Amino acid sequence: MNGALRLTVLGAGYLGITHAACMASLGFEVLGVDTDERKAGKLNAGRLPIYEPGLEELLRAGLGAGRLRFTTSYAEAAAFGDVHFICTGTPQQPGSDRADTSQVHACVATLAPLLHRPCLVVGKSTVPVGTARRLAAGLGHACPGAELAWNPEFLREGTAVADTLSPDRIVAGVTSGRAEAILRQVYARPVAAGTPFIVTSLETAELAKTAANAFLATKISFINAMAEVCEVAGGDVRALARILGADPRIGGSFLRAGLGFGGGCLPKDIRAFAARASELGAGQALAFLREVDAINLRRRVRTADLALELAGGSLAGVPVCALGAAFKPGSDDVRDSPALDVAQILTGMGARVTVHDPAALPAARRARPELTYARTLAGAVRGAHVVLLLTEWPEFTALTPGDLSPLVARRNIVDARGALDPVPWQRHGWRYRALGMAEGAAAAMRAATR
Ligand code: UGA
Repeated sequence: MNGALRLTVLGAGYLGITHAACMASLGFEVLGVDTDERKAGKLNAGRLPIYEPGLEELLRAGLGAGRLRFTTSYAEAAAFGDVHFICTGTPQQPGSDRADTSQVHACVATLAPLLHRPCLVVGKSTVPVGTARRLAAGLGHACPGAELAWNPEFLREGTAVADTLSPDRIVAGVTSGRAEAILRQVYARPVAAGTPFIVTSLETAELAKTAANAFLATKISFINAMAEVCEVAGGDVRALARILGADPRIGGSFLRAGLGFGGGCLPKDIRAFAARASELGAGQALAFLREVDAINLRRRVRTADLALELAGGSLAGVPVCALGAAFKPGSDDVRDSPALDVAQILTGMGARVTVHDPAALPAARRARPELTYARTLAGAVRGAHVVLLLTEWPEFTALTPGDLSPLVARRNIVDARGALDPVPWQRHGWRYRALGMAEGAAAAMRAATR
């Protein structure tokens, strides 16, 4: 395999589209494959089916340069590619904590019999440890010239392009020097720019991804557990996080207390990781991840309870404004969105909830059609008795009491992302409540600044 490598990317979801467009921008010829004809057509027309800053420009540049296109044909991909990246989804199985790896298995099973020349098949999807070894055996059987490697992806939604072009590390799970050499060729540019390239086994590469997500989830739930203690002890979790984060051994990132983690990755990955460990007989080792999950889900209920308190003990018929639907700012993804869950809980408590989000309204409407949505911020806030900040979009965190006071019927705000300064809100007669801060602690902050 000499000269310029030709790459295919199998599965045009978040990961696949980003990987395909980024690899094309690095100068490779790339063929993206998705069985959804409409999606492939849309991508070929330069239109993104997802919201991701900077990605559409990259997609169009790749298409325009003739280095990138999309197809539905696996046969075409097999004939085209020297390296095939598997980027299909691994969602949570319905009614189980396990990951559903059927798309990954189907992808390799479809591709393998079509491969008639030496190539490297590279898994990027997040899979339970042991999956790659099974896939490798099947692949080698179907096509002796094909080899499998595992190269997990650590990109975050909202910063997917930068994370792909300048990753923190590249993990190459390989079983031969040839596979390592091909991956070094693919990632020559970021490696030359200083990204560490870590060569390891298939199993360690699979674990690298699930362990990283488990650690991040644990860090968030740790600070949210501290928030629970702060609420009853009169502490302030934001100050506590700053103090903890100043210790370089702890580090300040992923210590933002609040409504906790959601999305298509962290929640399902910790569940699947714990389930896989149990299957392997190491269930006890990851039992703590169940607590990480429980702490995270408790924050949603606690947020709704703060709104209930501010409403005076009953939410029946009370107009409530929910600011945010996406699982985090910079994304229109509403999978396992804490914001939408809170809106749903409040609705269940009898509130008349109106949801607004700058990017995720179409996705939210599809996922939870039973909720009420407002296209404008003012439309959502007008007449509210309680406003909840649930996703920390910059346009929400920049809001001042002067913006909202003329619109609301009552001045009550729940800052579920700890993103606002309580002092100006309280000065303007708002009752301000945040996770990880007792009401008295917020009032004390106000007194201290007088
Ligand atoms: C996560 C990982 O960060 C990526 O490294 C990984 O590649 C990706 O999952 C994946 O498995 O594909 P992502 O789901 O895009 O990325 O989002 P994060 O930025 O990790 O945020 C996850 C959730 O945690 C969000 O709901 C966010 O609001 C919440 N969060 C994050 C906090 O509550 N506190 C924090 O301090 C940080």
